[in-house]
Amino acid sequence: PVVTTPVEKLLGFTAVAKSLADVVVVPAGYTATAIYALGDPLTAATPAYKNDGTDTDFENRAGDHHDGMEWFGLSADGKPSASSVERGLLGVNHEATTDQTRSSFFIHANGGTSTLPRPAVEVDKETALHGVSFVEVRKTGSKWEYVKDSSFNRRFTCLTDMELSGPVRGNALAVTKYSGNGQKTRGTLNNCGTGKTPWNSFLTGEENWAGYFTRGAADDAARASDKSVVALKRYGSSQGGNSRHGWETGGTDDKYARWNISKLGTSANGSDDYRNEMNGMGYIVEMDAYDKTKLAKKRTALGRFAHESAAFGKPVAGKPLAVYMGDDSRNEYIYKFVSTANWDAADATSSNVLATGDKYLDSGKLFVAQFSADGSGKWVELSMSNPLIANFATYKFADQADICVNARLAADAVGATKMDRPEWCSTNPANGEIYYSLTNNSNRNVDPTGSSQLVPDSANPRAYTDMKGTTAQNGNPNGHILRMKEGADGSAALVFTWDVYLFAAEASADAGKINLSSLTNDQDMSSPDGLAFSPATGICWIQTDDGAYTDVTNCMMLAGLPGQVGDGAKVTLSYPKKEGGTLDVSTYVGKKPTADTLKRFLVGPVACELTGIAETPDGKALFVNIQHPGETTAMANIADPSKYTSQWPSNAGYGAGKRPRSATIVITKNDGGRIGS
Ligand code: FEO
Ligand code: CA
Ligand code: CA
Ligand code: CA
Repeated sequence: PVVTTPVEKLLGFTAVAKSLADVVVVPAGYTATAIYALGDPLTAATPAYKNDGTDTDFENRAGDHHDGMEWFGLSADGKPSASSVERGLLGVNHEATTDQTRSSFFIHANGGTSTLPRPAVEVDKETALHGVSFVEVRKTGSKWEYVKDSSFNRRFTCLTDMELSGPVRGNALAVTKYSGNGQKTRGTLNNCGTGKTPWNSFLTGEENWAGYFTRGAADDAARASDKSVVALKRYGSSQGGNSRHGWETGGTDDKYARWNISKLGTSANGSDDYRNEMNGMGYIVEMDAYDKTKLAKKRTALGRFAHESAAFGKPVAGKPLAVYMGDDSRNEYIYKFVSTANWDAADATSSNVLATGDKYLDSGKLFVAQFSADGSGKWVELSMSNPLIANFATYKFADQADICVNARLAADAVGATKMDRPEWCSTNPANGEIYYSLTNNSNRNVDPTGSSQLVPDSANPRAYTDMKGTTAQNGNPNGHILRMKEGADGSAALVFTWDVYLFAAEASADAGKINLSSLTNDQDMSSPDGLAFSPATGICWIQTDDGAYTDVTNCMMLAGLPGQVGDGAKVTLSYPKKEGGTLDVSTYVGKKPTADTLKRFLVGPVACELTGIAETPDGKALFVNIQHPGETTAMANIADPSKYTSQWPSNAGYGAGKRPRSATIVITKNDGGRIGS
């Protein structure tokens, strides 16, 4: 789209202060309005949300825990439009639900049943509020609203029929009772980050899906301790472990039974039970935002792990496409997928986006990142041609499908760099550099105990539980934002350089050890998570998901105008070791931000996390999600709204009831200008 660029000062707003209030705070001159919350009806026939725990029909309502979000423009006559700024669809992830012991307590009248077995009626509500929604939003006059009866509105839940696509489709690892030929699976789960393809389709990342499954206390033996046990454990499934919600106890129907992945049948391949069911989760899933007749496709070539966002490098005609991804778990990895097909700019306006997805996302190479202390790094291909993978002693890979399903094990085999929880990544439109939020890691330790703890390294250099940086030496509670610059081969490069754009920290923390980016009171933050560059303004929006600084402030969103890799300085951190001497770790700190290049823009209500960033192409409406306000409410207080830790958004005038609800807000500037100016 041709967007005329107004002459304005970006980051001209006055920074907002840290806040513990139960409101959305934005700068003077801006307005934030809730427009789409948990339970909002998505069809004309669905009753209004009462928000008292008696609502049903969640397949036709907004799901819970709004997370990643993308904008898809619609013309006045309802066609896909790259330039529309007043009508569009939002693709919204519904990651999870607010729970303490099993039940999603804000959606049940009495808080629900937290013991086993779970009543089917509760399970059915809970499965329906996970997944993805597409919802039409419209501006009438100056007011944005969602469109309840739009024919475009659509839900995907964790039970919706979906295609497996790419190397895993039809593989023995994907055979289940549901799909005897291994070509399909049901549902998408724990949808966290998002992405948008250069051909205008929606990508959703499946993150903490493993915890929703259970398997029996003797399942390792039932599997004859075959290699599937190694794989299950690597992805966090131990025999006898509880599932997050106990959905497997809802009844005997397959929609409940599939959450128990024990080997129960006698078939050789799993076609009579759900032993392989978990292999159907953990992917980047592609969806056609505009066409409700199209099934979603799980793009298995991009690897199976705890996905956050999927960010494309800038497409170059005649060159392969690169997709950057992170695996958000402690000590996990950063990945890149490089397409076999070279980019054809004509595909940008494809009328069959999932066919275009087949072309670019089903065939290619999967790489994992290795960071070096000299500021360089390597992309290591995960394929059977690498002897480290073919001869890996821990797990015997069969083929590329096995590598995709068990990408974590393949990355272990090649010695990839274990990171401080890679959350969102995004590409800086100004120079193509790739930014990664590394949110925090309690498993960094100068004197490690146990195999899960790692010493700090150059790319993950901080290890102080004490956030002032004075005494203790365990963990990176505040996180950092790392950035990478590809080598001369661009998307297909096998080498890169890197530095740390920002170290999150409290402003008062030791500037030599913790507050390495010298953040001020207008800039300080903890646990960056959501991160996305605005295509309109180039602003780098940073959102936090924090538990370390929440005694001082609710989670927040900041606006940054970063420079480039290598614009700062090398710094060496010297940690005293228990047995004496020091552990010296060098890192690269990007140019320190100024009051003109980094500012706090928004602070959310109590006990929320900021998630999801989408905007109209003119940059004048910014959509953001407030996830799980009030999640710290004690379930026992469900009947007493005065004891809810948050009553947002009803306290902002949105919707019935006092129970807090995850919701999408729209931010506009009162003078009609672009957001962040
Ligand atoms: Fe769903 Fe890693 O945040
Ligand atoms: Ca996240
Ligand atoms: Ca997070
Ligand atoms: Ca979350």
